[in-house]
Amino acid sequence: MEPSLGRVLVIVPTYNERENLPMITGRLRAAVPDAHILIADDASPDGTGEAADALAAADDHIHVLHRPGKQGLGAAYIAGFRWGLAQGYDVLVEIDADGSHQPEELPRLLEVLARGADLVIGSRWVPGGKVVNWPWTRELLSRGANTYARIVLGIPVRDSTAGFRAYRAATLEKIGLDDVQSQGYCFQVDLTLRTIRSGLRVREVPITFVERTAGASKMSRTIVFEALWRIAAWGIAGLPDRLRRRRHRR
Ligand code: GDD
Ligand code: MN
Repeated sequence: MEPSLGRVLVIVPTYNERENLPMITGRLRAAVPDAHILIADDASPDGTGEAADALAAADDHIHVLHRPGKQGLGAAYIAGFRWGLAQGYDVLVEIDADGSHQPEELPRLLEVLARGADLVIGSRWVPGGKVVNWPWTRELLSRGANTYARIVLGIPVRDSTAGFRAYRAATLEKIGLDDVQSQGYCFQVDLTLRTIRSGLRVREVPITFVERTAGASKMSRTIVFEALWRIAAWGIAGLPDRLRRRRHRR
């Protein structure tokens, strides 16, 4: 038996995911029956928020956080983390609403967390990891972004943009969320870097990422450009420290 992790909250950010909501909550409830679910909806015009309320009314393990408008994935997760930390959850999980991250793989992530990691990333780009049904352009974007982040930031993580992960509450408390400015998907790289720079243990476990069959991706040019310039800025800010460490090693 693994040491117990305590109470688990799975945060599902949503923007126009009404068609996917019953699927993702149903699969999560089956795969991790003790975990609670928080749907963090940005006032989706397609009625995702109302659908979430109906699910929450019928199941005491499901909660909803309504946000006033589309403010980005990073902002939705920060709000969800704050909610979960205030409620005293011990583990906070990130997962997409569209089925790309398979809830059936979540117990494996939690096992690795229980064995002593501070952040576990469900990784597409470690041996054993896979992506199903992505166009080659999207694969190139993800691989390129990850290689760029790894080199510019000097971190060993293969999939730092991944959105399927499990944090210990203590990890989020230690890295601090108050000054996180990332709005788009670079939020994932931001928190990975903060975790590593705080001296905490990051582990990657291989997952199979399955492209969505319903609804649309929210990936945009704005999100890509935000990632490019923010990662460059973090890389430059971290340079003195990296150089100092290299000198010490010699
Ligand atoms: N509340 C809220 N607000 N949710 C959002 C927003 C937002 O502004 N933008 C996206 N989401 C939700 C989507 O509804 C979905 O549940 C999840 O965040 C991921 O968005 P997708 O649009 O499905 O992302 P993707 O499949 O293109 O990108 C995947 O790969 C990226 C890196 O390659 C995701 O796994 C990302 O998390 C990952 O960073
Ligand atoms: Mn997706």
